Amino acid sequence: MAGRLQGKAAIVTGAGSGNGRGIAAAFAREGARVLVSDIRLPAAEETAGLIRASGGVCEVVQADVSKRADITGMVDACVAAWGTVHVLVNNVGILVPGGVEEVEEEAWDRVFTANLKSVLFACRAALPHMTRQGSGAIINISSISAIRHLGLNYIAYPTSKAAIDHMTRIMAVQYGPKGIRCNSIQPGFIDTPMVKNQVVGALGAGKGEEEAAYQGYKAKRAAQVPMRRVGTPDDIGNAAVFLASDEASYITGQALTVDGGVTQSVGN
Ligand SMILES: NC(=O)c1ccc[n+]([C@@H]2O[C@H](COP(=O)([O-])OP(=O)(O)OC[C@H]3O[C@@H](n4cnc5c(N)ncnc54)[C@H](O)[C@@H]3O)[C@@H](O)[C@H]2O)c1
Repeated sequence: MAGRLQGKAAIVTGAGSGNGRGIAAAFAREGARVLVSDIRLPAAEETAGLIRASGGVCEVVQADVSKRADITGMVDACVAAWGTVHVLVNNVGILVPGGVEEVEEEAWDRVFTANLKSVLFACRAALPHMTRQGSGAIINISSISAIRHLGLNYIAYPTSKAAIDHMTRIMAVQYGPKGIRCNSIQPGFIDTPMVKNQVVGALGAGKGEEEAAYQGYKAKRAAQVPMRRVGTPDDIGNAAVFLASDEASYITGQALTVDGGVTQSVGN
């Protein structure tokens, strides 16, 4: 099925890699015009190249979502290109290790600025356009770490994700009467560069052993998942298409868990 997002103008942050790239590509396949945004311009350009090669329509903007001026510029770029914003996906998320007793204050602030404050200001910039047209869909990318301890020693990342889920619920109630839906997606173990970098770093794999170490990690994770595989950015893209589309017109304030069932399994 194609054309489920025909005519929509969508912004995807962090679209130069992983889940953001998967979401941007899935949106374009369904007929959306996509503003591909990332702090790394070459990465965003690469995503745009993939979209255009498949006949999709997109524009690229470099934006650091930790900077309010960049967020405003990103939303302005979408409006300049296509007149409005129908769909906003706040996908950027960064992770720093360190539990309550270890995490540096600077790292805590960095995570909350990139993961949470960015959502506030991107929504603030997009909402007037959605309000004017009387419709819109906001999708915030959370994590299963918002609802489960995943066995990792970190506190800032999962706490920021839990806050995203609650912010999503609050916004859903406030903006429902204006025709704007707000939902979040909680990905499980998804095979993306972020995970690979973190895992390889954490495992302390020697040079040349990185790939084998990562494959071992993935196999271990897959065995924990009822569907017996780790997820892909396409899995997240497909969920985002649904929530962005009119098929989800009566769904708001929800956190959609996309994790192969791992959070339902005893022992996780
Ligand atoms: N991969 C997983 O297993 C997993 C699980 C749960 C949730 N998530 C969430 O999915 C989202 C995407 O994660 P991913 O795994 O695809 O990561 P990724 O590192 O592969 O991609 C993240 C992208 O965001 C960009 N980015 C980072 N900081 C930025 C900033 N300040 N401004 C703009 N762009 C910035 C990066 O350049 C990169 O292209 C995150 O919110 C993450 O928390 C991922």
